[in-house]
Amino acid sequence: MDGKLVTIQTHIVQQQQLHPEASGHFTALLWDLVLAVKMIAREVRRAGLIDILGAIGRENVHGDEVKKLDEYAQERITESLCQNGHLCCMASEERAELIPIPTRYRKGKYVLLFDPLDGSSNIDVNISIGTIFSIHRKITPGDDGRLEDCLQPGTKQAGAGYVIYGSSVMLVYTVGHGVHGFTLDPTVGEFLLSHPDIKIPPKGRIYSINEGNAQAWDPGTAEYVHHLKQRDPATNRPYSLRYVGTLVADVHRTLINGGIFMYPASPKPKLRLLYEANPMAMVVEQAGGRATTGRERILEVQPTELHQKVPLILGSTEDVKAYEEFVQRKR
Ligand code: AHG
Ligand code: MN
Ligand code: MN
Repeated sequence: MDGKLVTIQTHIVQQQQLHPEASGHFTALLWDLVLAVKMIAREVRRAGLIDILGAIGRENVHGDEVKKLDEYAQERITESLCQNGHLCCMASEERAELIPIPTRYRKGKYVLLFDPLDGSSNIDVNISIGTIFSIHRKITPGDDGRLEDCLQPGTKQAGAGYVIYGSSVMLVYTVGHGVHGFTLDPTVGEFLLSHPDIKIPPKGRIYSINEGNAQAWDPGTAEYVHHLKQRDPATNRPYSLRYVGTLVADVHRTLINGGIFMYPASPKPKLRLLYEANPMAMVVEQAGGRATTGRERILEVQPTELHQKVPLILGSTEDVKAYEEFVQRKR
């Protein structure tokens, strides 16, 4: 792939060739997802414009009712992914219940779990937002997907990734053979390989946490963050604080620059296991990093419900291990 332009479609087929048993359904599923996120990227880019248009008559230039971006993203993904017979069911942050595949469509052997629009609170202030996805294989008998097909530990994921709608639109994914990043070239409408085989630095110098919750942190988290703020050039301290408030943006920066992202258990966990923590944990581990609840590996948590929340601490292995030592000292 030296120097050649590699589209994500080509890359996905090359990754499929690492699985001789692959039927091509997984590849086609990812292609459908790419189409959906291209449409979401287009809408994100003009979100501000629509708001202006919406202010005039609550209709956009096409005469459509202006939809909230997360509802728009939800509909784009469900419409693009339910028609081609690759999925047996879906589950989304935006829907309380499991999303069945309409009876008029064939059922497939995969499950899609997703956060259609991550960082919704940042939409109106033009800060990076994202889409997160996790793909499992169907494990129950019969054609229709069931809750058990969704409630699988992260170690069973067939693939996972995210899209960041930022200064450029990037799609980062893994199917278990490393992590690969693609940048959307809007002039041709293709995601082109820009970050092959991403590896997270073993140690960073940035920490990412909502400092506004500091008074409610558990003692281990509080002592770890205090430790990061002490001056010690030999260990690159004090670390810098970077916190976007969009998980996709904070994780992407951590993946590229190294460091640690924390959304701890106290004051209370917020991030959802199935479609935020698990996919991000698979990506970070595949890039050589580490992802924990503070007490156990994220990917080994046995899910019990669709929208359950977990503490999520992830990033450079040395930094996450240091966090675990502080927290476990306080058991
Ligand atoms: P979503 O917009 O999908 O609900 O996700 C928001 C999440 C996540 O993106 C981010 O890491 C976290 O909310 C930030 O939470 P705080 O504002 O509580 O720090
Ligand atoms: Mn989210
Ligand atoms: Mn969301």
